[in-house]
This record gives sequence, structure tokens and C-alpha cells, in this order.
Amino acid sequence: MKPAAATDLAPAAATVALPRHVAIIMDGNGRWAKKRHLPRLAGHKMGVEAVRKVTRAGRAMGIEAMTLYAFSSENWRRPEEEVGDLMGLLRHFIRSDLDELVRENVRLRVIGDYRRFSPDLVAMIDDATGRTSANTGPLLAIALNYGSQAELAGVAQELARRVRDGAMAIEDIDTQAIENLLDTHDLPPLDLLIRTSGEQRLSNFLLWQAAYAELLFVDTLWPDFDAETLSQAIAAFGRRQRRFGGL
Ligand code: FPP
Repeated sequence: MKPAAATDLAPAAATVALPRHVAIIMDGNGRWAKKRHLPRLAGHKMGVEAVRKVTRAGRAMGIEAMTLYAFSSENWRRPEEEVGDLMGLLRHFIRSDLDELVRENVRLRVIGDYRRFSPDLVAMIDDATGRTSANTGPLLAIALNYGSQAELAGVAQELARRVRDGAMAIEDIDTQAIENLLDTHDLPPLDLLIRTSGEQRLSNFLLWQAAYAELLFVDTLWPDFDAETLSQAIAAFGRRQRRFGGL
């Protein structure tokens, strides 16, 4: 059943508080394709088009950081052909869009265990992030083979190692010590987390980082998400009252 309370997006207001860091669970590519009797790959291709539109719009609006959930650690469970298609689209995206990202002063980051991908793709990703490493502008983080629980388990392992090696006392393990070891350690705090397609779940995405983020679930399918939908989402964020546990 379709969830009842996904947020209706009202027209964007002229000026609203801008989130520093927006993360998006890009959901609904398959349904977009199905509605048109097209193969799922067509939905993913339009999904990449939406990535282009939305990241350009985010930069134009002055959003400091965007994190996009492109491949979750659970996505390996999809048919091999679809996993291959998604990898192919990622390769194509890097080939076709990296020059623009370098030129636009974007700092490209990858979060997640992308080293499990095939060696040539790992090399492409490393080369791509390397080519933007001298940039100073907006951050674009792509989550690849990312899972929040595995990320936190990795942090726990690293902290245990440090304590075992005498580099750290148990009492020094505080929230900051954990934050410093997250894949997102050099991104601003997460302000807004959007999920498209009407589903209302976090699906193992940025669970720690979302502690005080505003959550926005919209009915729009990801391939239909564009600059206008993004500004409506930013406007919805601007109408929220953030209290961070205070009154
Ligand atoms: C969810 O839609 C989408 C994904 C699992 C993949 C998201 C990937 C892209 C938008 C393309 C790759 C991105 C880059 C940066 C090159 P779904 O397939 O779960 O849709 P459904 O729930 O309607 O079936």
C-alpha cells in the first residue's frame, strides 16, 4: 500500500534557509520504467540524467555538499545483469561527466566499500576523486557499496585496534571520535535527507549522520526529480523548525 503521509511539495518560496548538506536516496527508477513499459535499465539511465540535473541545480543554489545513494551494499542481491548495468552507468558517468566536475571546482568523494568493485572500476574511481582533490568547491559524495551498519562496524573495529595498540584510552571513545572515522568525516553535518518514490525507510543509509537531519519523503520517482523538485524540497526544509533536542 502506498504510504499516506509522503510530503506534498508546495511551490518553492523566494528565500529559505539553505541546508549545507543534502543526501538523497534515489528511489523509483524501476517503477518509472515499468510505467512506460521500458526495461529497468531505461529507468536507471534517466536516473543518471536526474543526477546531472539535480547536482547542477544544487551547485547553482549554493548547497555545500550532496550525498547520493547510488549503490547500496544490499544492491548485490539484484540480478547480475542489473548489477552489471549499474556498474556500466557509473563507468559511463565518470567518463562523460568528470571533466565538468573538475571544471566546476567540485570535490568528488566516494563513501562505502567501493574497493569490492572490479579493479578497473576501482582505478577509475580513484583517478576521478584524485582529479578533483585540488578543488575547493562544492562536495559531491557518491555512496557506492555503502551500508551504514558496515560503516559503523568498521569504525568500532578501528577504535578497538587503537585501544589494543595503546594509541587511545577507552574513555576517549566519544561521539567525535566516531564521527572522525566515518566515511563522511570531511562532509558538513547532514541537514536534509530526501527519499523519492513514496517509500519511507532509511535503508541502511547514513543512520548515524541522520541523527538530527530533517527527513523528507516525496512521491516523485527519481527520474522525474529535477531542479524544480529540489527547490521545492529546500523550501519544505526551510519551513521545518529544527530544535536539536532543545525547545
Ligand atoms: C533505486 O531505484 C535506484 C538504484 C538502486 C540505483 C540508483 C542509481 C542511479 C540513479 C544511477 C547511477 C548513479 C550514478 C551516480 C552514475 P529502483 O531500481 O530500486 O527503483 P524501483 O524501486 O522503482 O524498482
